[in-house]
Amino acid sequence: MNTASTNPVTAVIVVAAGSGQRLGYGMPKAKVPLGGDSILIHALRGVAEAGIARQICVAIPPGDPELQALCESFAQDLKAEHRLTAASGEGVQLPAVTVVDGGTSRAESVRAAMAALLPGTQAVLIHDAARALAPESVFHRVFQALCAGAVAVIPVIPVVDTVKTVEPTTGDGAAVAPELVTGTAPRETLRAVQTPQGFDLATLQRAHEAAAGFDAGQAAAVTDDAMLVELLGVPVHAVRGASQSLKITTPLDLIIAEGLLEGPLGTRWVEG
Ligand code: C5P
Repeated sequence: MNTASTNPVTAVIVVAAGSGQRLGYGMPKAKVPLGGDSILIHALRGVAEAGIARQICVAIPPGDPELQALCESFAQDLKAEHRLTAASGEGVQLPAVTVVDGGTSRAESVRAAMAALLPGTQAVLIHDAARALAPESVFHRVFQALCAGAVAVIPVIPVVDTVKTVEPTTGDGAAVAPELVTGTAPRETLRAVQTPQGFDLATLQRAHEAAAGFDAGQAAAVTDDAMLVELLGVPVHAVRGASQSLKITTPLDLIIAEGLLEGPLGTRWVEG
């Protein structure tokens, strides 16, 4: 991809400090094997292949020597590949790889990574390591929207299920069913949100500073960075995501991700 000098100097933050309890592997999700590598290595390769990062900043579980070593070896491999491509005259930029200790929430992990960004960084893409198979094309769509002037960009896909709101059933109704439907959201306006999410760095910093005063309940409700930017009243734009960017969360997701890697064309057989 052409990352000409008029484009913002961009870092990609990969948040990989989650415990992965829902996957039930008894280890941080970033280490879980996928197609002969770890989930984190697949995610980092996707970021590097997209070719838009001057810096890749990875948040890992605090003091995890295995993941630290894995990131260092990834950085060495990148350097070796870069020497080869530089020798062939392709001239792709070599991103710096930085590793930081993540926090107890995703937002804290993002903040720890933002604090380690190189001076001069203008834009940032935040990517969940759990979306290990996000294709290059999605990184490019998000980055291109930033280059075109968007301050916040998220990749989305249409929702196929009908989505309802519910509340716990009270009184006599509790014997009938645990929840009562309170409404149906109009499906044509709904989108499932993925990563990488792209931001002007100053705006994202402002959004996270505003969130510093949240109480525990409000903080727990923050599931992505775009939510915080929305609270500032800044427009958030949406571009097309991809179904292979699924967030590997449950054992079924891992089976699907393995299936994608084993498909006849690797992950590329799905759209995106
Ligand atoms: O748990 P959740 O689905 O929100 O995790 C999304 C991403 O955020 C995962 O890649 C996970 O590793 C990361 N995360 C993190 N630090 C945390 C919790 C989650 O980096 N404390």
